[in-house]
Amino acid sequence: MIKAVRGTRDLLPPDTALWNFVETAARDIFRLYNFREIRTPIFEQTQLFARSVGEETDIVSKEMFTWEDSSRAASEKTQSLTLRPEATAGIVRAYIEHDLNRTGLLQRLYMIGPMFRRERPQKGRYRQFFQIDAEVIGPPTAGSESPSVDAELLEMLATFLERIGITGWTLELNSVGCANDRPRYNEALRAALAKDLDKMCADCQRRAVTNPLRVLDCKVPEDQPIIEKLPRMLDYLDESCRQHFQAVQDLLAAVGVPYVINSRMVRGLDYYTRTAFEFTHGALGAQNAILGGGRYDGLSEWLGGPKAPGIGFAIGEDRLVLALGRTAEALSHPPDAYLAPLGTGMDREAARLARELRRQGVVVELGDESFRLKKSLETASKIGARYAVIIGENEVKADAFALKNLATGEQVTVPRAELARRIQPTLLK
Ligand code: HAM
Repeated sequence: MIKAVRGTRDLLPPDTALWNFVETAARDIFRLYNFREIRTPIFEQTQLFARSVGEETDIVSKEMFTWEDSSRAASEKTQSLTLRPEATAGIVRAYIEHDLNRTGLLQRLYMIGPMFRRERPQKGRYRQFFQIDAEVIGPPTAGSESPSVDAELLEMLATFLERIGITGWTLELNSVGCANDRPRYNEALRAALAKDLDKMCADCQRRAVTNPLRVLDCKVPEDQPIIEKLPRMLDYLDESCRQHFQAVQDLLAAVGVPYVINSRMVRGLDYYTRTAFEFTHGALGAQNAILGGGRYDGLSEWLGGPKAPGIGFAIGEDRLVLALGRTAEALSHPPDAYLAPLGTGMDREAARLARELRRQGVVVELGDESFRLKKSLETASKIGARYAVIIGENEVKADAFALKNLATGEQVTVPRAELARRIQPTLLK
């Protein structure tokens, strides 16, 4: 038997109702904060992710689904393509490609869709997973560098989690500095690493030279005591980064969003500057980050675009649904009525009636004339319908149908014109 690939999953009903609940709530929140939807392709040129997420990150160096695409004309070279491991790079590429800077306004964009990383699958970690991603990008004149954008985004996230009923989260906050103070921090890291480097894993040894910040992502247990003693980025912030970070914290306090500072959190992507954050949740076990994000003030320029600072986040939808801890049944909507055609020629009548009822907003599942009444009523109960409507020759002649309430067993005859309102009294007249 052919099965779904390891690390991928089928989402089946009724669980899909949970996913729809979360996505609808997200779209409602985005509307309140004036975000608009963007949709970018599921694959991009590999170079886009290498340049933005960074060659030395786990994502780019180990986890991407990449292939050489030779479907171009023989005269052209093959190109390396990659299934998107995250959304920010594609959105910033689209921002540059469509010259959205020219609007002079902040672009508040969101996207919901699948991402792909070749990680070791476990609970809350998949090779195809879904993100609800949002980005705020714009020219500095539009206020894109302001700490108030950071605080508003974090407050929006707290409001969203509250709305969908997730409590017990922790907002972990850090500042990872900027292009101005990062070189000093990198030097401090290299100096601190120098004496113990030969005891560390091969990744750390390489990264200490190429990109020391990435040493802080190391998960090898033996390396942790060394990593814990490394200098903290917060002690190397320049004055403007320090003020920015303080302003974000002051605004969070003003709007009443609680947070803790986690000076070890550098996030596993290279484009971050200044504010970096994660919302974690205790119920999730080892993969405890429901969402993560931060500022990327230089990313547009790294990709050859204009100066367009930005900040964003991605919610891991798979983990969000796990953290909800709700069962899908309460969110599922069983049909209002099951139509039971009785005897030859009644499928036609049932199809007509179903069409009329659905046009009036009644949720209908259609039976089959080959079923006996007993089987039809059993099916109606199994699917959770509130009513069964029996359609036999006598009913068609009288233009009135037997309506059976499946909870009480009560049965009444109802003229065609009144049927919809009897089934669903809340329907508009
Ligand atoms: P990230 O931290 O790599 O950030 O991913 C964001 C969230 O996606 C994680 O917190 C987690 O909930 C979920 N996630 C990541 N990998 C997996 C996986 N293998 N299985 C299930 N869920 C997963 C980013 O992707 C950035 N682009 C966020 C961002 C947007 N920063 C600025 N703008």
